[in-house]
Amino acid sequence: MSDHNTHIEAQISRQVLSSFDKTPDARLKQIMHSLVRHVHGFVRDVELTEREWLDGIRFLTETGHKCDGLVRQEFILLSDTLGVSMLVDAINHRHSADATQTTVFGPFYIEGMPERAFGENMAFTPGEAALVRGRVVDVHGNPLADAVLDVWQTAENGMYSGQDPAQPVGNLRGCYRSNGDGYFAIRTIVPVCYPIPTDGPVGRMLKATNRHPWRPAHLHFMIEKPGYRPLVTHLFNRDDPYLESDAVFGVKQSLQVIYEERVTHDDLSSSLGIALPFKRASYEFVMEAE
Ligand code: BEZ
Ligand code: FE
Repeated sequence: MSDHNTHIEAQISRQVLSSFDKTPDARLKQIMHSLVRHVHGFVRDVELTEREWLDGIRFLTETGHKCDGLVRQEFILLSDTLGVSMLVDAINHRHSADATQTTVFGPFYIEGMPERAFGENMAFTPGEAALVRGRVVDVHGNPLADAVLDVWQTAENGMYSGQDPAQPVGNLRGCYRSNGDGYFAIRTIVPVCYPIPTDGPVGRMLKATNRHPWRPAHLHFMIEKPGYRPLVTHLFNRDDPYLESDAVFGVKQSLQVIYEERVTHDDLSSSLGIALPFKRASYEFVMEAE
């Protein structure tokens, strides 16, 4: 490339960068400068053609049109499948190594789901009966009473209630509370692996790049307790075939649990009147003070 062309290209970037010099908000100025540097760097790096530029514009336009403001958020899905959501999560949760690790929130959370009693069943569709039980503690191991565990998972068909009109409202969702000793118990079904939605531009991107859309089986948690950092995480089934290739890069080893087969009762399962056999998983969530 001639010096003349190199000069023109550098000049464009300099001009755009300096157009943000008077931004009053220092953080916005930093973000705009960095964004321009990286986007221009990307365009230079791949020497983007005009055709590719237009394809990119169309892709992003379609991504916006696919969002419905309720449960379908194609931009979050794009961020998830590019690993941006997990990177933002990692940067924002550089907390104590003793606290439970966090993972991606995902687009299928619904606020205001029913409060459920200790050990109440939240599954109104078929599946393998499961009891997920454990404790919420602080980083010193002291039990945390009255923590709210907002949980959600898919039905056996791989869809969340809210996404699938055939499921009753609140199916496989609910807000549980830890008891006076920090213990919680959730009656549900064993989570299954499921594909993220592929009927939009993100699905096309996965197909074009020979990637699969599957997420390993998991149960979502958002745990809140005044004075502690909210904990957004999942528990993954340890035997899932997609643990090594989660479409959204959310898996952490410390978040994997085994659903063990129970053919006899313990005190908890017998007090809850669970029919045998069932699967049982246990976990201790560690919350960090704010
Ligand atoms: C989820 O686990 O619900 C999810 C996360 C990211 C993208 C799609 C779904
Ligand atoms: Fe999920």
